[in-house]
Amino acid sequence: MLVLMPALNLALSPPPSRVDLLRRHTRSAHEAIEATPCMQRLMAADYDISEYGTLLQRLLAYVEPLELLLNTAPKARFQLGCSRSECLRTDLRELAINAKPDTQRASFSAFDFADESVRAGICYVFEGSSLGGQVIRRALHRNLGTPVVNAVNYFDCYHGNHGKIWRKTLEQIEQSPNLDPSQMVNAADGIFGSLRAWLNAGDNPTQNISQHQISHLNASRQSQSKCPFARFSNWIGL
Ligand code: HEM
Repeated sequence: MLVLMPALNLALSPPPSRVDLLRRHTRSAHEAIEATPCMQRLMAADYDISEYGTLLQRLLAYVEPLELLLNTAPKARFQLGCSRSECLRTDLRELAINAKPDTQRASFSAFDFADESVRAGICYVFEGSSLGGQVIRRALHRNLGTPVVNAVNYFDCYHGNHGKIWRKTLEQIEQSPNLDPSQMVNAADGIFGSLRAWLNAGDNPTQNISQHQISHLNASRQSQSKCPFARFSNWIGL
């Protein structure tokens, strides 16, 4: 009978998959974005339509330029499964809110959209958000009721097909041979950080965010992270 010694067993365990790396590396970023005041308010029993409308507009000013860059990238392989900005515009129309045309829009100069690994990391974050979107959809229905029944298209963007789309995204990430894992996890972590900073600045409109602040925010969060991969990759500058 073959008995594997613990050390040998460890040596034979396969390296983490790309999706494992993404999960480990972005776990604390997910916790941080979930803890932002506007995300916490989304789930609150006393949430109101005007707060929801403000959040949708803030998201639109982030997601629309992001989608444009994803769609116009050369050889664009990683794309979102549906237009989130269209979903946001539909939700705003349903709530009879006019999206302000002169709103300041997010900038993504720190991200190289021509790089497939970067786009893969960004798609991981936004396609994954459709999972949490189900929790949010239920909370919005519970707390805001009838007025939002047709105004949750952003959070429920796949109307019941989120599991299928999510599995397809993960498969695509695992099966694309040329992805660079460190570029990919950095982009995923970076986009979480940039969205968090954008949403926080929306809660405090006098505060402008710079790319330097986003990097600083990510680095300090990673150094406190309980995830060993996050801390290790921060030390070696991954
Ligand atoms: C109140 C806010 C949020 C809540 C309550 C929430 C909740 C969740 C839940 C329940 C899951 C599914 C976990 C599982 O099935 O294993 C999930 C997954 C995920 N969420 Fe969120 N989420 C929130 C905000 C966000 C935001 C703003 C983003 C990014 C734009 C995001 C990105 C992701 C990703 C990438 C995953 C997939 C993680 C993985 O399994 O690989 N979430 N979230």
